Formats: sequence, structure tokens, C-alpha cells
Amino acid sequence: MSNYLAPSILSADFTHLGEDILAVRDCGAKYLHFDVMDGLFVPSISFGMPVLKSIRPLTDMFYDVHLMVQDPERYIDDFAKAGADGITVHAEACRHLDRALDQIHEKGLRTGVALNPATPLNVLEYVYEKVDMFLLMTVNPGFGGQKLIPAVLPKIAKLRGIINERGLKADLEIDGGVSTATISSVLDAGANVLVAGSSIFKGDIKANYRALESYLGEK
Ligand code: DX5
Ligand code: ZN
Repeated sequence: MSNYLAPSILSADFTHLGEDILAVRDCGAKYLHFDVMDGLFVPSISFGMPVLKSIRPLTDMFYDVHLMVQDPERYIDDFAKAGADGITVHAEACRHLDRALDQIHEKGLRTGVALNPATPLNVLEYVYEKVDMFLLMTVNPGFGGQKLIPAVLPKIAKLRGIINERGLKADLEIDGGVSTATISSVLDAGANVLVAGSSIFKGDIKANYRALESYLGEK
């Protein structure tokens, strides 16, 4: 299992968003994490389909769309059309999670289910086989630049154990508070896709990316 960074453009400088994206692409980033916030499921509002559509032609990176949106089923088709490669919905925001995952697969995309820090793993019980990437929030969603919540580490380890026991092919992504100070703890716990926003895009992007990448181990 390889480890990857997924730079979150939530923390990019939107006056030169394209350059910031090409900077992480040039560092070899495979994923680009796209944090959609609706101001209802989470306190902030970020960006949506028009921004995704405009950056799609820029790179062939995996556009990893994280819908922090209430009733996200309403937007799956639109984000698929705008250029998403994977769509992650929050279990807490879906009335019909199983159907939302089918809807994402029907668009030919990879599915993701995100859980907030306080949400137990057992909500995944009947959808494990439909999930291509699990996303465990390591902060309470809505803002970049927050501190990682250590209480989520055992939850990451538990989910990694379930993935291994069931022989699932899914990736385990975590999101929030990843920095050079915390990256080893989340990798040791069993995450293999690490979202990082402020620790990459604030300051020297390429130096920041390479500093984090040095912790990823064998590719
Ligand atoms: C939800 C967002 C953030 C962001 C990562 O709040 O999903 O977690 O991607 O932000 P940093 O890496 O700055 O904590
Ligand atoms: Zn995210």
C-alpha cells in the first residue's frame, strides 16, 4: 500500500490558484483535494462546480472532491460533470448513503465516505464494500489551519484493521491538521492518503510539499 499526499486547495492563494496547483503537480502530487463547503453542514462556504470546471483542464491529477454539504446527492451529477474523479460524501449529511454511493459509481467515479471526529465507525457497517476511499476527519470540518484531534488516531487504527481483515481495496484518507509534527502519527495509525492544506500552501509550496513527502516512506 503506497502513501500519498492530497494537497487541499482550500488553503491555496486564489489570486494565483492555477500556479499553486501546478506547483504541487510538479512535486508529483497524485491527488488534489477539493473542499466544498455549503455554510450549512459546516460553518464556512468555500467554492463549487465553476472552480472545479475551470481547473479540470490544468492537470490529470485525481480530483478528490470532499462534499461538506447537506444532502450531497443533489450535487453528485454536477460535480461529476465539472470534472471530479472521486466524490466523498459525509455519512452524517446523507439521508440515503447507500444510494448516494451507487449514484457516484453510476457516474464512473470513485466513492468516498467521510466521518466527522465524533462519528463512530459502525455507520459504515453496511456499505464497506461500496467504498473506494474512507475519509476520517482529524479536525471538525469547516476550516483549514486547525489542530489535529489526537482522539481520532485509535479510530484510524481500528478502521485500518477492518480494511485489512475484510481484505478491502479501499484507501484510508485523513483530513485536517497534517503537518511535519503530526504526519508520522497518522501514517503509523494506518492512514495512506493524507490531506494537507495550510502545511503545504502557506509559504514555500514546493519546500512544504517535499518536507511532508519525506515522511511518506516507500512509494
Ligand atoms: C475541513 C477541510 C480542512 C482542510 C485541511 O475543515 O477539509 O481539513 O482540508 O486543512 P489543514 O491541512 O490546513 O488542516
Ligand atoms: Zn477535505
